[in-house]
Amino acid sequence: MLTPTTFGTPLSKSSLRVLLLGSGELGKELAIAFTRLGVEVHAADRYQNAPAQQVAHYSYVLDMTDGKQVDFLVKKVRPHFIIPEIEAIATDTLEEIAASRQVTVIPTAHATRLTMDREGIRRLAAEELNIPTSRYVFASGEAEMRQAVDQIGLPCIVKPVMSSSGKGQSLLKTAEDIAPAWHYALEGGRGASQGRVIVEGLVDFDYEITLLTVRSRDPQTGETITSFCEPIGHLQVNGDYHESWQPAPMDSAVLEKAQAIAAKVTSALGGRGLFGVELFICGDEVLFSEVSPRPHDTGMVTMASGYLSEFELHARAILGLPVDTRLRTPAASAVICANLQSEGPVYRGLAEALAVPEVDLRLFGKPDSRVGRRMGVALARGNNSDQARQRAKKAAALITVADA
Ligand SMILES: Nc1ncnc2c1ncn2[C@@H]1O[C@H](COP(=O)(O)OP(=O)(O)OP(=O)(O)O)[C@@H](O)[C@H]1O
Ligand SMILES: [Mg+2]
Repeated sequence: MLTPTTFGTPLSKSSLRVLLLGSGELGKELAIAFTRLGVEVHAADRYQNAPAQQVAHYSYVLDMTDGKQVDFLVKKVRPHFIIPEIEAIATDTLEEIAASRQVTVIPTAHATRLTMDREGIRRLAAEELNIPTSRYVFASGEAEMRQAVDQIGLPCIVKPVMSSSGKGQSLLKTAEDIAPAWHYALEGGRGASQGRVIVEGLVDFDYEITLLTVRSRDPQTGETITSFCEPIGHLQVNGDYHESWQPAPMDSAVLEKAQAIAAKVTSALGGRGLFGVELFICGDEVLFSEVSPRPHDTGMVTMASGYLSEFELHARAILGLPVDTRLRTPAASAVICANLQSEGPVYRGLAEALAVPEVDLRLFGKPDSRVGRRMGVALARGNNSDQARQRAKKAAALITVADA
């Protein structure tokens, strides 16, 4: 793990270089955080003009699941840090690169492999660390999936092992739902594990949170320490995030349990950086759901709520700098989704949205829109999370995404 002692000048021989694998909206904010510290940012994605590429010093288009292409790019850029933003990456290549060259994969190459799909991380949490989770069975192919549904019982949730933002995910209530769920999972899955699913018992949680957990370098001892942001509450529709708010009100004993789980999972993954630990809260029980070894979409709220956003926290933790996870003010986020397909769409209503008190906007600049695609987010501060939520929702609803 590299801890830079000097920070160089971008675009010069002394540059400190990071390579972002994945250049979406979260990568864009991370790129901005790094450039503020004078770090040279290289942004890769599978398509051109992805959000982070628009603010990075250099950008590249490649298939990141192809190990040869990833290896070639790393040789060319010679980054000090490789920072994955998505799961679908040739993680075996990252492990080889990390083992053979002077480069740090964030948080670690091993962690990117474990969290690459739902199976690695679920088995680690539930079977090795004995952390409570939903009941689950993994299955390959439709016949095995039917058996798994039988074992778990209805209602249950089926998800491709590799997918995000609710893609390919179905809630099954009756036996009639099994066949469509299988086809949807097959369509929504990615990578080599296409056709493999997790069948999970439906958890009747009271609420769910993301606990942003930071592993950073203690400036006094040089040891890696763990700190937590205030819990983030969020609302998901069909497995995709629509609103988040911070702080999520929580009983202090339950919060302690949540923090203990987050500390256990993230220390098993190791390395430095910020993690988004997703937890379900049922009374005083806390169930682990999944973890992102990187900033989390629901954590975009921290751009309004924190002294440091989750992106600044991630950048600082990676670079071995001190962090401050304290909440500055209650805040909320509400996503702006497109409801049409368009190339180079236009946005209307910005003046109206920004007239809502204490509101700010992030428009991601994605080159094209699709129905349901997340194009931006409204952020709002408030005296409490509820007031912030009302403001963020109101502002997001005032923005329309239209054809040019
Ligand atoms: N077993 C479950 N019981 C109840 N609700 C669930 C369960 N699994 C998932 N959900 C709901 O679906 C949401 C998305 O699930 P999950 O986080 O596993 O999918 P994802 O596609 O990885 O989403 P993202 O990438 O946006 O985090 C959860 O936040 C939760 O609201
Ligand atoms: Mg999730």
